[in-house]
Amino acid sequence: MTGRGFLGTQASWAADLNLLAQIVLLLLLTMAVLRAKKGDLATHHTWMTVVVIANAVLIVAVMNPTFFRVLPTAINDPSLEPKMMFPHMLVGGLAELLGLYAVVAVKIDLPIAMQAHSQKRFMRLLAVLWTLALVGGIALYIFWYL
Ligand code: HEM
Repeated sequence: MTGRGFLGTQASWAADLNLLAQIVLLLLLTMAVLRAKKGDLATHHTWMTVVVIANAVLIVAVMNPTFFRVLPTAINDPSLEPKMMFPHMLVGGLAELLGLYAVVAVKIDLPIAMQAHSQKRFMRLLAVLWTLALVGGIALYIFWYL
């Protein structure tokens, strides 16, 4: 698990880039939530779309390849923190799928877009899952590369 990243850790360049990008996406996501609270739903939706699509690219380009590369050894190797990696994959995957659903649902008027209170609950669940995925990913980075 050694690489030539730019943060001076054992991580690869891609893992460092992913870490920074995920933090930027969190900031963008927070700003998008603040826009929604101010009633600016159009900007909220645009920024959420950017966040969800950018994250999908990072999953496909960085996290999925690493996941499948370490999968055969991770099952029996405690140093790869399987107890952290598998929950991260599940929570992160669910967060991304719900995020994609929310973005599309608002765009084409699927059920979630109809009732304000169920929409709010859905968004809260999404925020909790996303935060858990982010915390889990940062923990993975710390345990693998520091
Ligand atoms: C909302 C969704 C997600 C967020 C916010 C997130 C966040 C993060 C963060 C911050 C890192 C640390 C940076 C790094 O080591 O690259 C990371 C690493 C990782 N994540 Fe995710 N993640 C998400 C979804 C997923 C999914 C769906 C998978 C399953 C394929 C996954 C698998 C991994 C793996 C294997 C790593 C280590 C990558 C490496 O070091 O090369 N993540 N994630």
